[in-house]
Amino acid sequence: MKRALITGITGQDGSFLAELLLAKGYQVHGIVRRASTFNTERLAPIYHDRHEAGAALFLHYGDVSDGAGFRRVLDLAHPEEIYNLAAQSHVRVSFDQAEYTADVVATGTLRILEAVRDYAARGNAARFYQAGSSEMFGAASPPQSEATPFYPRSPYAASKVAAHWYSVNYREAYGLFIANGILFNHESPRRGETFVTRKITRGLARITLGLQSKLYLGNLEARRDWGYAGDYVEAIWRILQQPQPEDFVIATGESHSVREFLDLAGAHCGLDWTKHVETDPRYFRPTEVNALCGDASKARSRLGWEPRVSFEELVKMMVDHDLELARQERTLTSAGHKVIERGVAQP
Ligand code: NAP
Ligand code: GDD
Repeated sequence: MKRALITGITGQDGSFLAELLLAKGYQVHGIVRRASTFNTERLAPIYHDRHEAGAALFLHYGDVSDGAGFRRVLDLAHPEEIYNLAAQSHVRVSFDQAEYTADVVATGTLRILEAVRDYAARGNAARFYQAGSSEMFGAASPPQSEATPFYPRSPYAASKVAAHWYSVNYREAYGLFIANGILFNHESPRRGETFVTRKITRGLARITLGLQSKLYLGNLEARRDWGYAGDYVEAIWRILQQPQPEDFVIATGESHSVREFLDLAGAHCGLDWTKHVETDPRYFRPTEVNALCGDASKARSRLGWEPRVSFEELVKMMVDHDLELARQERTLTSAGHKVIERGVAQP
């Protein structure tokens, strides 16, 4: 049985990747941050108590700001594959929490690489995946490929560039199997509710069901290359199965504006979104990334990977999911139950 260790397992991608690896017969270990509330909601469907026969998913408390703790988990899990997905991953928030973002995203990766280097020196070969981002291209004109120079436009993106180059350096300096994925935006019904796609599908669904009246957004003209997270974790896994460690852009090659996302989501809800969406400047970024569109030819030819879910199918999948959530919420409210808020989201 192969063993994998995932940082950021409680996030959108972590949950899809854990599911994929479990289906492939892996024993999966994940690092979970201690929080005062549960942060393992996305893992609930695949988690079994470790006392149950056949349990293959094991969670360990940890934080990428704590190198010693990570090393202990590494020795305990003893993985052949390590996927570093942990991040303060919100671009807008990174302008408010720049030092923290750098500590987690850039230095956090360095801490893990140092641990992996020492793990290898003790005779343990582990393949390492670093979750890079199309945000690293920032102001570089589309289409962006592995050959496009980085031009980061936020503390988050600059930190991801640092993590990318730390990873390349450790690959070259110590001959380790280290690969960077440079993933363009990918979404799903499990997407965090403060990212624009989910904010829109959740907001428009609630408006359709009469649970709220307005949705406040920022820049509607930004263009992104949006794919489906379930497809992207398959690419992540394939990157680590290659004979040589290399870096890959993962993208659909199609780009759409936030406005176009609203048009499709609104139409699927049967709602004229222009009557409900208002602009709030707090959602603008000090420096914006205007247009991202990836050229994933290398992944197509070398990994044999291509996205399966189209943009239209993705929007529909997310809207359908959030309409169902809103229906459940309305049923509870109309039966006199108090709906338990899952949180309040600002950014
Ligand atoms: P996400 O939903 O925000 O998940 C981030 C994960 O990192 C969560 O499990 C979070 O834990 C964990 N985390 C945050 N700070 C941590 C810390 N200090 N120590 C340990 N864990 C920490 O992000 P995602 O969308 O799944 O993305 C996964 C990775 O891919 C991230 O590195 C992201 O930057 C990168 N990426 C994402 C996209 C995309 O479009 N989704 C594109 C390119 C790259 P909590 O659950 O406790 O918050
Ligand atoms: N979050 C958010 N909220 N974004 C908004 C809003 C809003 O109310 N209104 C407009 N936008 C615009 C943003 O300005 C940005 O141009 C675009 O919508 C997408 O924003 P996000 O969904 O927050 O994603 P992102 O592209 O900044 O970052 C995501 O993708 C990266 C890969 O390119 C994150 O998942 C990053 O972690 C990831 O690396």
